[in-house]
Amino acid sequence: MRRAIFPGSFDPLTNGHLDIIKRSAPLFDEMIVAVLNNPDKLPMFTVEERCGMIREVLPDVDTNDCSMLVESFSGLTADFARKRRATAIVRGIRAVSDYEYELRMALMNRRLEPEIETVFLMAGEEYSYVSSTLMKQVFELGGRVEGLIPELVEARMREKKN
Ligand code: PNS
Repeated sequence: MRRAIFPGSFDPLTNGHLDIIKRSAPLFDEMIVAVLNNPDKLPMFTVEERCGMIREVLPDVDTNDCSMLVESFSGLTADFARKRRATAIVRGIRAVSDYEYELRMALMNRRLEPEIETVFLMAGEEYSYVSSTLMKQVFELGGRVEGLIPELVEARMREKKN
């Protein structure tokens, strides 16, 4: 059983995240989308809302027979991965600018849990500039984000704004 976790804040889920899920799913039997519950940050969506949206969107994503689970977690990603008996941590890289931060995290996670490998996937170039932060900013200021986030997520963002 090859189990991976795909950790992140997912505030909110973007089509860039879905692209990484689609690309990585064929490599694993089971994947847990692990949503960080970070009490230090004030998110747009609660962790329950974020998990709920991902669960609603995932059935429409081709995950190639890979079982998908969505769980929230607190604390260290490496601890969560070990507790869930995952052998890999999936992360997406969009541009060279992501590399340094991702490298530091991967090396730290490897130090914490030497048996767990970080697997990097290159995001599709059409999503190379898409981040949750940018999507929230553009949306808040009235810009168009269609095609960059799932429709359901856009609808929930609209509900939040009104
Ligand atoms: O989607 P993000 O915000 O880029 O995800 C970052 C995340 C959640 C993967 C990272 O902040 C993380 O792993 N946080 C949990 C705490 C932790 O393990 N910190 C040490 C990382 S080496």
